[in-house]
Amino acid sequence: MTGGGLRVSSSTGSYPVRIGSGVLRDIGSSVAGCGVRSVAIITDTTVKGLYADEAVASLREAGVSVVVLEVPPGETAKSWSRAGELLQEMSGLALNRDDAVIALGGGVIGDLAGFCAAVYMRGIGVFQVPTTLLAQVDSSIGGKTGLDLPRGKNLVGSFWPPLGVLTDTGCLATLGPGEWRSGMAEVAKSAILDGVPSLEGLERDAAALGERAAGAVERAVVMAAGFKARVVSHDEREAGMREALNYGHTLGHAIERVAGYGAVAHGIAVAEGMRFAARLAERIGVGDPAWSVRQDHLLDSLGLTRTGCPYDAAALLSAMRSDKKVRAGEIRFVLSTGPGLWEARPIGDAELTATLSEWSA
Ligand code: NAD
Ligand code: GLY
Repeated sequence: MTGGGLRVSSSTGSYPVRIGSGVLRDIGSSVAGCGVRSVAIITDTTVKGLYADEAVASLREAGVSVVVLEVPPGETAKSWSRAGELLQEMSGLALNRDDAVIALGGGVIGDLAGFCAAVYMRGIGVFQVPTTLLAQVDSSIGGKTGLDLPRGKNLVGSFWPPLGVLTDTGCLATLGPGEWRSGMAEVAKSAILDGVPSLEGLERDAAALGERAAGAVERAVVMAAGFKARVVSHDEREAGMREALNYGHTLGHAIERVAGYGAVAHGIAVAEGMRFAARLAERIGVGDPAWSVRQDHLLDSLGLTRTGCPYDAAALLSAMRSDKKVRAGEIRFVLSTGPGLWEARPIGDAELTATLSEWSA
């Protein structure tokens, strides 16, 4: 695939990330340019109604044969049984190893379709075509695929880098407010971890982002996708700096679990986790109160309001303890101590309980 934008290095070579409004219209030439002649688009019902026709028309115009496979929207689609059904359908279509899957949708579709591509005939190509803000700035880049098991999320999966990522920022116009906030928390996280220019740019654009002004949206997606591309290019397998991407997620995931999935928007929970991590850094003597306040200000200005964290500290601690990222029984936290400054370290239960009790008071 050709075109401007970013490149991501991976264990299987490198792949491009094309970002812009209208990218979907050219999907056919991007796919045909990789020598692919036949594809299965995997999408959900909502995204199919909005964007599948445009993708299909572009692919057919470029001489690519295409079939659309559809699943219901939502996290429940990331299941073993749904993946099995899709694999049966792919086999019924006689897709072969030169053919490819197109993941058209949010992070759920990216993970599910990516997983099916990774295991079908021991691996066929996948193009990620993300349509949510979260998928555009985070999940479509880096090659992680996954399914959920009853015991927890993303417990099955593989690394399967895409042939390319085609990101049409125009698709974000139809996104609901909860999904917008989920992605915006990842945008804020990226700017905070990336450093002064990205942070100042996002602070300047916060009001325009509230109105989803096209220029500001494109700048935010390019900034955050670019940050993620650099991180995973250096550390695909999460042996080092990719761990930084968990910033805000240790407490965030625990809040989602304790509150009951769906009760608190993912972005609000992650934002709460970032606010908390800044206080934790202060408490253990590496943080700076002025930085915590600046971060709060940014999150407020992006519509990522506080939950007040009205949850039992013991329940949160137990949820954090069951996270698959816990190592040797220790809960690891990513702490941010200023723009572009972060460290990951284990935090003891006593420290966590005390900070949690203070935070939710
Ligand atoms: P999602 O895929 O469920 O999409 C959210 C909702 O938005 C769905 O109902 C979908 O139909 C709808 N939608 C999608 N695009 C739309 C559009 N343009 N307009 C209107 N509606 C649209 O959720 P998500 O937040 O995109 O992704 C969450 C998933 O991503 C989780 O399963 C998470 O585990 C995964 N994830 C993966 C990675 C990774 O690196 N692989 C990283 C972060 C998150
Ligand atoms: N979203 C975390 C990661 O991709 O590693």
